[in-house]
Amino acid sequence: MQTHIVKINPKKINHKKINLAAEIIKSGKLVAFPTETVYGLGANALDKNAVKKIYKAKGRPSDNPLIIHINDKKDLAKLTLNISKDAQKLIDKFWPGPLTLIFKKTTLVPKETTAGIDTVAIRMPQNSIALALIKASGFPIAAPSANLFSKPSPTSAKHVSDDLNGKIEMIIDGGNSQIGLESTVVDTTEKFPIILRPGGITKEELKKIIPNITLHPAVENKKIKINKLKSPGLKYKHYAPKAKIIFIEKKGKIIPKIKKILQENTDQKIAIILTNSKCNFPNQYVKFIGNDPKIIARNLFKLFRKMDDIKMDLIIIEGIDAKNLGLAIINRIKRATYKVI
Ligand code: TXA
Ligand code: MG
Repeated sequence: MQTHIVKINPKKINHKKINLAAEIIKSGKLVAFPTETVYGLGANALDKNAVKKIYKAKGRPSDNPLIIHINDKKDLAKLTLNISKDAQKLIDKFWPGPLTLIFKKTTLVPKETTAGIDTVAIRMPQNSIALALIKASGFPIAAPSANLFSKPSPTSAKHVSDDLNGKIEMIIDGGNSQIGLESTVVDTTEKFPIILRPGGITKEELKKIIPNITLHPAVENKKIKINKLKSPGLKYKHYAPKAKIIFIEKKGKIIPKIKKILQENTDQKIAIILTNSKCNFPNQYVKFIGNDPKIIARNLFKLFRKMDDIKMDLIIIEGIDAKNLGLAIINRIKRATYKVI
């Protein structure tokens, strides 16, 4: 299959091109498109055969449900059985935006989209191309991140094409993703909302609207039984570059720790990613990425992919504070990590 790559300027939407992409979605096929978080691999969420193609193209296990993207809050009514008061508050405050909410689903949503469970994940993205595509398709669009299973999420059309060229009909190139990490996933079906995945909307922002909101223990990497996992995606080791990562938490002196790792791994090709410390290690690949969480988030997955391109064996990453976007950044690094010290 030939994959067509179509450039669209998010600030000046070309509706002819959007309509071409929408025709592909309507015919039950796949289009990768930009969102403000990461690129998504879209299909008609209400067509089970179209949705199956997503799992096939990504090599995604069929027990990991997809997020449905809508362009109009009114569409929620036909997809969900109940919208709690808290859910409504979150919708009013954060949609369109990088927040995915879990609801009880209606029978309109095929079980293939939700991997057989009776809840459904929904978000209204902010990206103008994503919104225009959903509108022109006339269907809600199911879209996981547009990467191969276990690869870092794509934050540019090139990343998508590196993973999925020849496997999907079209990639819309709308430039680099603004946020660079996936949406925050919040379960609204329990008494109090629970954060299942930290992401583009921070816990601090959510707490201002819902003081009782909690973090699911799996987010903090607490060991829990797989069957107690609320979000099937949490059990998979995601976002992994091929190199092993050693994550050095932000406590105590870091330089001696790095030196020790270097001594213990003399046969490895090592990258050292620094956030706070400015230090040189002669003969090593050293990259200083700064400590602004917004900038780290925007560049993290690109960095992971680059480490694969330059065939690093080991990546040492200096920790940052686990607050605001830092929580999501640390979560993604830890889920790709070999060792936390
Ligand atoms: O920012 C994003 O959320 C991107 C863009 C494309 O929108 N999408 C994305 O999708 O990250 P994906 O499939 O890579 O991650 C979806 C996460 C998975 O961890 C999945 O397990 C969880 O959401 N999820 C989906 N439906 C769920 C449900 N009904 N209950 C609990 N978790 C669910
Ligand atoms: Mg993903």
